[in-house]
Amino acid sequence: MARVERLRVGVVGAGVMGERHARIYAALPEVELVAVCDVREDAARRLAQATGAAAYADVAAMVGGARLDAVSVCTSDEAHRAPCEAAARAGLHLLVEKPIATTLADADAIVEAADRAGVALLVGHCLRFDPRYHAAQAAIAAGELGTVQTVYTRRSNTVAAQDRLRGRCSLPLFLGVHDYDVMRWFVGSEVVEVTAAAKRGLLERRGYPVEDASGALLRFASGALGIAELNWILPRGFPASGDHRADVVGDRGSLQIATLETGLSRTDETRTVRLDAHAAPEVHGHHGGMFHFELAHFVDVVRRRAPAAIAPADAVAALRVALAVERAAATGARVAP
Ligand SMILES: NC(=O)c1ccc[n+]([C@@H]2O[C@H](COP(=O)([O-])OP(=O)(O)OC[C@H]3O[C@@H](n4cnc5c(N)ncnc54)[C@H](O)[C@@H]3O)[C@@H](O)[C@H]2O)c1
Repeated sequence: MARVERLRVGVVGAGVMGERHARIYAALPEVELVAVCDVREDAARRLAQATGAAAYADVAAMVGGARLDAVSVCTSDEAHRAPCEAAARAGLHLLVEKPIATTLADADAIVEAADRAGVALLVGHCLRFDPRYHAAQAAIAAGELGTVQTVYTRRSNTVAAQDRLRGRCSLPLFLGVHDYDVMRWFVGSEVVEVTAAAKRGLLERRGYPVEDASGALLRFASGALGIAELNWILPRGFPASGDHRADVVGDRGSLQIATLETGLSRTDETRTVRLDAHAAPEVHGHHGGMFHFELAHFVDVVRRRAPAAIAPADAVAALRVALAVERAAATGARVAP
């Protein structure tokens, strides 16, 4: 059998998501995790040691020196553009975490850099790789619900997220963008009008300049209505990192996704916690779950075995909705994304 060259991959950003990408790449048979990079040198070194990769403190040095084919960009939300541009200029395929960027100017620059270089660009909208959301969209696309009339989503997370984020990214951009993308994907139509309100105060009093909660109504060109509910103020004692749902109603059927009940819970003297069985479970050294599917799909896209499951334009459209939700909440006006 002909030996297939392994894809030489690097990861930029050795935080929560960078570690996740690195560990999954390190276990993918077609991939060689070659390098990890973080401006925090100690974080890069620790992750490199754990995964058998080389550590870099600078993106330019990594893309110039590590002979890579592709990178995952897992830097904080506002810091996606520079590493994407550097990697694209070096001809490397790009997987960039969601949201594609925090401004339209940065998002357009990333798409343009990938286009100009002729490299693949996949944005990590991971719910498209969650078996439940994937099956839901397949059922909708097969016409099993008829025409979608309404989509309700809830993304409710604990305050623990701010231990790391410290208010650096807004609620619609960090969490909402997942659901705005899912809604466009489920409805199969563009958002034409957004109204929204935000609740502030609790996190601001703790020094984090972000919303506590956000509610948005999305009107689609098809006439469908989207209702997106977000908060990140659930108590630390909540039995999981969050409570995420989607309810879809069509004119011939409906479906519900509820991710809180994972099928696995553990109880000690004080509380019960739900353990992950869907996002990134590891079984005998094999990684599974939506992040594994996402990275395995990226390899397929780079190898030209599959078109990208989410086009760059979809990621930009989800960003536009998130920015519209912010503007609508700030002004009280109806906003076109
Ligand atoms: N798909 C999901 O479910 C999911 C979940 C959490 C976060 N994310 C996304 O992943 C991205 C990273 O988030 P995180 O939670 O891992 O953040 P994090 O703070 O844990 O990690 C970010 C890392 O990037 C590093 N960094 C910043 N600028 C850099 C640069 N120019 N070069 C090299 N390293 C740099 C930081 O030092 C930090 O170590 C964000 O876009 C976030 O929205 C996605």
